[in-house]
Amino acid sequence: MKLSSANINVMVKACRKAAKVLIRDFGEIENLQVSMKGPGDFVTISDKRIEKILIDELLKARPNYSILSEEAGEIKNDQSFKWIIDTIDGTANFLHGIPHFAISIGLEHEKEIICGIVYDPIKDEMFIAEKGNGSYLNNQRIRVSARSKLKDCIIFTGGPRHQFIDRDKSLKEYKNFTSKVLIPIRKMGSAALDMAYVAAGRCDGFWERNLNYWDIAAGIILVKESGGFVTDFNGENEYIQNKTILVNNSKINNEMIEVLK
Ligand code: IPD
Ligand code: CA
Ligand code: CA
Repeated sequence: MKLSSANINVMVKACRKAAKVLIRDFGEIENLQVSMKGPGDFVTISDKRIEKILIDELLKARPNYSILSEEAGEIKNDQSFKWIIDTIDGTANFLHGIPHFAISIGLEHEKEIICGIVYDPIKDEMFIAEKGNGSYLNNQRIRVSARSKLKDCIIFTGGPRHQFIDRDKSLKEYKNFTSKVLIPIRKMGSAALDMAYVAAGRCDGFWERNLNYWDIAAGIILVKESGGFVTDFNGENEYIQNKTILVNNSKINNEMIEVLK
């Protein structure tokens, strides 16, 4: 079974073209010039070059759609459709030669994410989801895990970074998780892949503070379409209104909210 709507085909084509350069650059990592953009957030020449490929491809296929991209910012066209792009999610891994990062593209229609793709070019894993049509990994349907007790789970998280506004809250939440429940907590370094892994049932839940929309846009639809929950830390809002995101297989939702408090 394959997801192949017109918009998905556009995203996949753009992503595969950009991924060729990304893979090449990863092989030449020591030659890349690196500059500090902000707190803990590195921008590479590669990031910008690959972002341009993505934006050019997307605009060629859909000249009227707007774009929000981490490095390029906003390109304003028809506001009802908007691509949300993170060219390299997991930049720190990329820079250190750790093969765990992804291209993430979400498509918003009337402020709702309607499809998304997270592509890990090194493992050649393409996670795709579309509203109402499910989530897929390399054309195989994926679902969230069935684990119902937090004690049996693996949970992902990320942060805090340098000069992080909510550093203390973030550290407290991490401490809560490591002291209240003695389970494996992983910081893999790519929020987009963290969410894709929850969607695929590889990990059972994920939480993080202060993420940006481009980190999670594609992940949101991947998790929802595979049967998971996406909320804030209170389990209330749709997501991130208060800059917190909580994602899980739905069964451990209450337990995760309790631990985070
Ligand atoms: C980062 C990754 C990381 C998360 C950071 C993000 P970037 O994105 O998603 O997992 O902990 O908060 O900024 O900078 O690699 O695109
Ligand atoms: Ca990025
Ligand atoms: Ca990111």
